[in-house]
Amino acid sequence: MRKYLVAGNWKMNGGTAANNELCEQIVAGASASGTAELLVCPPFPYLEATGRKLAGTPVSLGAQNVSQHASGAYTGEVSAGMLRDVGCKYVIVGHSERRAMMHETSEIVAEKFKAVLTEELTPILCVGETLEERTSGRMEEVVGAQLRAVLDATGVEAFGSAVIAYEPVWAIGTGQTASPEQAQEAHQYIRNILAGMDVDIADAVQILYGGSVKGDNAAGLFSMPDIDGGLIGGASLKAAEFLAIAQAAWSLN
Ligand code: 13P
Repeated sequence: MRKYLVAGNWKMNGGTAANNELCEQIVAGASASGTAELLVCPPFPYLEATGRKLAGTPVSLGAQNVSQHASGAYTGEVSAGMLRDVGCKYVIVGHSERRAMMHETSEIVAEKFKAVLTEELTPILCVGETLEERTSGRMEEVVGAQLRAVLDATGVEAFGSAVIAYEPVWAIGTGQTASPEQAQEAHQYIRNILAGMDVDIADAVQILYGGSVKGDNAAGLFSMPDIDGGLIGGASLKAAEFLAIAQAAWSLN
């Protein structure tokens, strides 16, 4: 039985005061929580302070990005070891915004995925197709290639300690959520690729959906058999909305 994971990707938003308030409100709501795990991923400068606020609460800490390198002359980069040092448990890798805007290839994403595992943190691997790729019938080809680039680099065993997030690019920040059926189809496709290599790992891996998840559409998505929670952008910046999404997972667990 897979547990739900509801993760907030704060992206490049907030500041000390806003983040503290958001964090306090989430923790207050989460202490009445059910069994789904909650996670917040603030920008790098706020990780340590947020981690202190989360200590001893049911909310975990994650980062939005990581260097593929362990240390050295990489100005401006942050290593997985540093993220572990400040209390991170999860690290998002391969978000579509980084693939598109920072030119991260699937090969770089695979290296980052490995770097995260080396520090015994859990990578959240994002995959997803653009609108043009979907409308030309290439969703499976694109998502499959993004997943296989990591599988080729790590082997399927690595997915025993990883999370996958299916985030169709056309649904991110657009208000146009994938329907539960569209998301389920992609999630099942992803799980089937893994099942072709290791049935137990495929059964156990959490696959999150991301893309305009809100309090009022979360339950429909989370009730699908292969959707194990959400990676939430905009709605994770409002405690009440994020907690409403968490509530949808709690009520289903
Ligand atoms: P939105 O929830 O704002 O669509 O963003 C989703 C996302 O990119 C999470 O990583």
